[in-house]
Amino acid sequence: MKIAIGADHGGFALKEFIKQNYAKKGIILSDLGTFSEESCDYPLIADKMADEINSGKADKGILICGTGIGISIAANRHKGIRAALLYDEKVAALAREHNDANVAVFGARIQDQNSVLHYLDIFFNTDFSNGERHCRRIAELDK
Ligand code: RB5
Repeated sequence: MKIAIGADHGGFALKEFIKQNYAKKGIILSDLGTFSEESCDYPLIADKMADEINSGKADKGILICGTGIGISIAANRHKGIRAALLYDEKVAALAREHNDANVAVFGARIQDQNSVLHYLDIFFNTDFSNGERHCRRIAELDK
């Protein structure tokens, strides 16, 4: 699975933490920026993620801003993107099972770093249920 990661300045430190953790497991994440704590605009990072996923360069993504809200809003404006703010274990699983979410979102100023890693494990290890009602609803999103 190819995974891309992106963050604004508010999420930069958490992005680096996640990247380092995955690198230790031999998984290199494709980094879409930002590359410092200098202020930047989260919609531009979300746009890059949408391009990465919709072009097939990445299968899944991780996006981070201060709260997780702005970058979720921005990502979900793109067709084909289903970005889910993951804040507990059940949500991490249901985002995949019911919503076929392809982007996991976090708020670095709100969430604990180790919980984020745990939610990512669940997210990446849970399949879409492929249920008829869920497929129908997902298709309706991109009309
Ligand atoms: C940046 O200061 C902050 O507004 C941003 O990271 C995010 O929390 C917006 O929703």
